[in-house]
Amino acid sequence: MQMLSKKAACDSHGQDSSYFLGWQEYEKNPYHEVQNPNGIIQMGLAENQLSFELAESWLADNPDVLGLKRDGKSVFKELALFQDYHGMPTFKNELVKFMAKLRGYKVEFDPKKLVLVAGSTSANESLMFCLAEPGEAFLLPTPYYPGSNDFKITGCALEDAYEQAKKLNLNVKGVLVTNPSNPLGTTMDRDELNLLIDFAISKKIHIVSDEIYSGTVFDSTSFVSIIEAVTDRNIDDTHELWNRIHMVYSLSKDLGLPGFRVGMIYSNDETVVAAATKMSSFGLVSSQTQFLLTNMLSDKKFTSKYIEENRKRLKSRKEMLVSGLSDAGIECLNSNACLFCWVDMRHLLSSDTFEAEKELSKRILFEVGLNISPGSSCHCSEPGWFRMCFANMSQETLKVAITRIKDFVESITSSRDNCNHQLTFLDSRRRSVSKWVLPLSPYDNNEPAER
Ligand SMILES: Cc1ncc(COP(=O)(O)O)c(C=O)c1O
Repeated sequence: MQMLSKKAACDSHGQDSSYFLGWQEYEKNPYHEVQNPNGIIQMGLAENQLSFELAESWLADNPDVLGLKRDGKSVFKELALFQDYHGMPTFKNELVKFMAKLRGYKVEFDPKKLVLVAGSTSANESLMFCLAEPGEAFLLPTPYYPGSNDFKITGCALEDAYEQAKKLNLNVKGVLVTNPSNPLGTTMDRDELNLLIDFAISKKIHIVSDEIYSGTVFDSTSFVSIIEAVTDRNIDDTHELWNRIHMVYSLSKDLGLPGFRVGMIYSNDETVVAAATKMSSFGLVSSQTQFLLTNMLSDKKFTSKYIEENRKRLKSRKEMLVSGLSDAGIECLNSNACLFCWVDMRHLLSSDTFEAEKELSKRILFEVGLNISPGSSCHCSEPGWFRMCFANMSQETLKVAITRIKDFVESITSSRDNCNHQLTFLDSRRRSVSKWVLPLSPYDNNEPAER
């Protein structure tokens, strides 16, 4: 007899996907400048560590906040007892102001439409529970039409996906987008947003926009939130579409606080807000976290400085990676946001297949010592694209990563040249073994004895 639910027993959880294979190797052999300089550098983690000291210095200047005091008096008991699933009104007020600030005050948010949950992960899940029955479908644009249109969403792509879902007898309830995009690091332009809006109107379906990276846009003017796009279409708020527009957000990326588990759903539909608020009991944001962040976000001088400085640092990091890769003959998709680049390594594949992508991915992991995410793990339809994160490490570590990849590309190029000069396989193999080949490498295990 099956003792567990189907959900618990199935192994389709992302943790078992190819995306996490490199993570397991990284855990076994993590890079450290001094203690393990030959270890694997983690470039698969979209974490923002670039502006930590700004938050830390704010905490140092505001010791009462960590001491759980207000006006010098302890609020320990008040916080320990607080368990209202509506969240703290003061916190929600500060959050909506912060979200508006990130969008250049082009959108206004109503705290009554906000539901607090433990991170965007939880927000996406709760929202799906509210919008669809088990077995119904949401369309998710994958990196699309590679190379030919810079992965932009097109009307044809949306219609195709809709028709395919219908053929599978799936009832399509909506489209879920991440804007700015993970893994592309780009923002959706007006045309794309308008396409999406027209599509949602014509099919009478929902739009869920995950805007978790909204504060990472280096060029702040180029980000348009779904809420702004709908407002600007002059679709008045009595139009039925309004109730089908939902946004997901979190402080995990913009403030670099994934451990605090602060996420939210913003919905125009009152029933969704009411249902999601009740569901939020399964993953509330703790009251001391709400207290701390209410204080931090209410300091407008701090938030302005943080947002500006964080954007600057992300931009310069991104440029460092892009130019380092370019020196190695590797180009990236033009991007303006997020904590990673979408990297084109199609020319390094031994053939135009996902098998070859996997093979290259393994070499980069075991020989080069970098954990990066292959495009196939993000359902990219063309082999050879990889996501490389740049904000979860020090500048020095990023330099090491760039040097490693340059050496790797050189070794491939020279071994290809060697092949052209009729060198034996063994000769080319020896040349391609670089100075930081790891003991874990499967290639080492089968290495023939030196002649
Ligand atoms: C697009 C997107 N949504 C949601 C999440 C999860 O974020 P959270 O830590 O808020 O659950 C991530 C994290 O990588 C993400 O990239």
